[in-house]
Amino acid sequence: MITKEALECFQRFRSPFYYYDMELLDKTLSEYNTQLSQYGWMAHYAVKANCDSPILRLICKAGLGADCVSGNEIKAAMKEGFDPRKIVFAGVGKTDAEIRFALEAGILCFNCESLQELSVIDSIASRLGKKARVALRINPNIDAHTNNYISTGRCIDKFGFTEKMLPRFFELFPKLTNCEFVGLHFHIGSQITDMQAFRLLCEKACAEVRIFGERGFKVTDLNLGGGLGVDYDNPEAHGIPNFTKYFETIRSSLSLPEGVRVHLEPGRSIVAQSGYLVTRVLFIKDNGERKFVIVDAGMNNLIRPALYRAKHRIMNLSSYRDCQTYDVVGPVCETSDKFATDAVLPECGRGDLLAICSAGAYGEVMEMKYNRRDFAKAYYSDRLNEYKSNIDE
Ligand SMILES: Cc1ncc(COP(=O)(O)O)c(C=O)c1O
Repeated sequence: MITKEALECFQRFRSPFYYYDMELLDKTLSEYNTQLSQYGWMAHYAVKANCDSPILRLICKAGLGADCVSGNEIKAAMKEGFDPRKIVFAGVGKTDAEIRFALEAGILCFNCESLQELSVIDSIASRLGKKARVALRINPNIDAHTNNYISTGRCIDKFGFTEKMLPRFFELFPKLTNCEFVGLHFHIGSQITDMQAFRLLCEKACAEVRIFGERGFKVTDLNLGGGLGVDYDNPEAHGIPNFTKYFETIRSSLSLPEGVRVHLEPGRSIVAQSGYLVTRVLFIKDNGERKFVIVDAGMNNLIRPALYRAKHRIMNLSSYRDCQTYDVVGPVCETSDKFATDAVLPECGRGDLLAICSAGAYGEVMEMKYNRRDFAKAYYSDRLNEYKSNIDE
């Protein structure tokens, strides 16, 4: 939520900037934890969604582990206090240096995505005199019915081991003396709102646990990844995702042998709704066909609309005038630098502040310097007092 007090501070901040509602993040974490503790499962926050330091610190304080996809993400998580024994490391392209670093740090587990990766981890572990805990990322060939570009669990996607690769895994693994098999990992995509996709995932996961068990590979850890979606259309009404429904869907669809530990990797569902990208209106331009609001934030600050055609709700924080219909565009020299088409907003004028909602996940982390534009600074709701006393941010 953007309070009156926050808005007063915003007037002095250099735009564009990210603003995080830390109270909402805290509440989201506490609702998530209420569900998690009920089932006794473990959660590893997907650091890729947002690795801003105060956000990582709050998530770490809430007791979650971390799901990382690069050596630098592991470093960032550890710097903010995450215990390496709660860190899992996924990704199809881990470098030797990253593998070495993760082994030395003593992470919980590598989520492995190819046969060659397993052999490389084994030989690096052998050189370091270590044993690597590994889980196999399975590609279950499930269509999560989400955006094509954030779907990760189909055979055409680069992720994980497909059914066809498994016989070669069963043959290879006993030869890898420095790897310890701990279980299976899945992640079928992001922004999933259809619970049926999670049901299918659980059924498939349980079947794989049985198959691996029959082949002599005891699964002690089953990681179902992340993927729960958020409401981008109406973030005010659904600031916290329906965790109860999600957890209940998973619980009721899982049937596992005694002693299997279940892990989850939430990203978007934890951080999306607590972030805003706040931007100033530079110009209004009516070209006779369309009315454009040109703002000072660009696709370099929030690339989701350009990359995925993602839709974010936009609010005009400065105007209560009658509504008009606009295309909201940024200053970058790309036609795709557009935050909204036909957005209905209170009439906009030069200098108005607009808030692009639900920007907490895959927003700030994906910023880039295209057109030599600056990164947006981040501000936090629990530091408003500090900002008030620091004139001229
Ligand atoms: C392996 C893995 N786990 C977890 C996540 C987090 O997904 P989400 O943000 O949809 O919860 C991702 C996101 O891409 C991922 O690749």
